[in-house]
Amino acid sequence: MKKLLIVANWKSNKTESQAKEWLADLSFIISHLSIENKEIIICAPFTLLSEIKKTIQEHQLSIKLAAQDISRFEPGAYTGEVNGAQIKEFAEYVLVGHSERRKNFDESDQELAQKVKRARDAGLEVIYCVQGKETEIPHGIQIVAYEPTFAIGTGNPDTPENANMVALEIKKKNPSVRYVLYGGSIKPENVNSFTGMPDIDGVLVGGGSLDAKEFAYIIENA
Ligand code: PGA
Repeated sequence: MKKLLIVANWKSNKTESQAKEWLADLSFIISHLSIENKEIIICAPFTLLSEIKKTIQEHQLSIKLAAQDISRFEPGAYTGEVNGAQIKEFAEYVLVGHSERRKNFDESDQELAQKVKRARDAGLEVIYCVQGKETEIPHGIQIVAYEPTFAIGTGNPDTPENANMVALEIKKKNPSVRYVLYGGSIKPENVNSFTGMPDIDGVLVGGGSLDAKEFAYIIENA
C-alpha cells in the first residue's frame, strides 16, 4: 500500500476552542480506523500551533503539524512576520506558495524561493503548492501540492486523470519530488478517485477539512 499524505488546510479559520473540539472529534473517529499508510497533517493558523501541539502530545495522536506560511526573512525587525525557527518549535512542515498567497499577497517566485530557503535552514519540510505543471519548483522539493485555481473552493475539482497526468509530469521534471498531492474541492465522495491514481500521493483539503467528521470520512475513504 502506498503512503498517502492527507493534509488539512484550515486557512484563516478556527479559534482555539473550535480547534480543540475539532481535534477531540477527529481523534475519537480515527481511533476506530486503520490508517497506517496515511499521514495526517494539519496546516493550522500560527495562533493555534502551540495549543494543538500540546493536545497532540497529551493524547498521543498520530497527527503532524504544518504552518501555512513562513517569513522570507531571518529573525529580526520584521513586524508581523513569523520565522522558521519559531515555526519549528511546533511544526514539522510549512506550506509555501499557496495560490491564495500568490493572489492576495502578490508573492512572487523569487519570494517563494526565499521562503523555501528559510524553511530548509530551520529544518522544516516544505509542501510546495503549484497551480499547473508549468510552475517552477525550487530545487530539492520533496512534496508538491497541485491545486488548480479553478478547483479551489468551487465544488468543481479537476479530473483525476488530468491531475494524475500533471503529477507525473511534475515528478518527471523534478526528480527530488517524492509526493504529489492534489488539492481542490476534495470531499469524502471524490477523494478515492484521486488517491487511487498511481502518481497522486495524497490530498490537500481546504473546505472539506473544517468539519472534523467530514475530514475523518476523507481520511477513511482516501
Ligand atoms: P478547497 O481548497 O478544498 O476548499 O477547494 C483546496 C486548496 O486550497 O488547495
